[in-house]
Amino acid sequence: MVDPEDLAREFERAFGRSPRLYRAPGRVNLIGEHTDYNDGFVMPMALDRSTWVAAAPRDDRTIVARSREYGETMTIDAGTQRPQRPQGRHWVDYVRGVSAVLSDVARPFHPSTRSGCPEPVEGQGREIRGADLLIASDVPIGAGLSSSAALEVACGYALLDLANRPIDLVQLARACQRAEHEYAGTRCGLMDQMIACYGREGHALMLDTRTLERRWLPLPSTLRVLVCNTMVKHQLASGEYNARRADCEAGVRVLAQRFPGIRALRDATLAQLDAVRGELSDQIYRRCGHVIAENARVEAAARALGDADFETFGRLMDDSHRSLRDDYEVSCAELDAMVAIARGLGGVYGARMTGGGFGGCAIAVVDASAVDRASREIEERYESASGLRPDVWVCSAGEGVSAWRLAEALHHGEALHHGEALHHGEALHHGEALHHGGHGGHGGRAL
Ligand code: GLA
Repeated sequence: MVDPEDLAREFERAFGRSPRLYRAPGRVNLIGEHTDYNDGFVMPMALDRSTWVAAAPRDDRTIVARSREYGETMTIDAGTQRPQRPQGRHWVDYVRGVSAVLSDVARPFHPSTRSGCPEPVEGQGREIRGADLLIASDVPIGAGLSSSAALEVACGYALLDLANRPIDLVQLARACQRAEHEYAGTRCGLMDQMIACYGREGHALMLDTRTLERRWLPLPSTLRVLVCNTMVKHQLASGEYNARRADCEAGVRVLAQRFPGIRALRDATLAQLDAVRGELSDQIYRRCGHVIAENARVEAAARALGDADFETFGRLMDDSHRSLRDDYEVSCAELDAMVAIARGLGGVYGARMTGGGFGGCAIAVVDASAVDRASREIEERYESASGLRPDVWVCSAGEGVSAWRLAEALHHGEALHHGEALHHGEALHHGEALHHGGHGGHGGRAL
């Protein structure tokens, strides 16, 4: 776990002044996989693990970013020009991408991403300042837990805050999505960035990715979510991910010719898909079928959760996994083994892969009374089946991005949640944006 006070001290040693601290969480997705770039529904929850950024402004336009995990320090320009093609998936590309997008929204979108990222980030087009950043994370990297969205959102929030700009979380999420498209080359949806912004303790988020309507669903105290890391990194995921998205778009083009109201798979029914089946390849038919059925599963799962009908909720998770494995083909042998093991245990309502797939984590929704036993059994059985030692832990739903106030003398840190304004360094009042008039952010106090 990252200790914020420790991080602040490390920053002081490295950069010779006091930082402000920010954090944004990773996530698991309970249900609604590969629906977000089809205007559909998702149900993620933020993890109680985060990427942290200790940050202080500089007088120039340089960003000096140091990663604790990678042991690297990189220097970039705050307003780097958009690359001709995505640069890669080095950690600093995410920082570079976010700072560049936040600095400059006047330019047209990269042609290949035009359809993916809705609108320019209005009002946030002024240049951001240079900064020193120290980044540390307890979100496992490459495990399908959205460590990259956590990094983007934490850095984006920090850079906006250091520049004294009001922060609109939807715009921040969109800017981070655009950075992912243009700088990391993944044409992702908006789920990961939105939950990194809008996570709420004890709740899953029901998100309509078309309207961005948000509903927080309380997670009952009798349920536990087990995160089961297969320890297989999702290396090839980006190309395969983009290929799935292209298949969905190809399906929509055919559907829209027959049914003009259809703009995205969100608008289609399975009956409509069947009506055009002869015009689709088997692969595109199965891809689209997954998305259409998965959207319906998310809505059914939200109802089941509200009714405390965990059996139904679990069954929907199982169906989701099968569909991702057989029709969407984004699972892998290790994920399937993990899910099968979890599913065979008492007290487990349902299990499925979570996130983009091709490795990473499965999740199991388990009755609280059975969770210790289930997690031990999963560890043992997965290790003997695969030869890999998995990382299995109970996660509770955490909070979205926040600034973190270090109290005097670096004691008793406390999160400042977005939507609360800090006045006189003490009282928290509700408001639209986080304003930091007269930060006084030095000398032991981070904000
Ligand atoms: C990745 C993407 C998300 C989403 C999931 C699959 O996490 O970043 O936008 O598409 O895969 O549901």
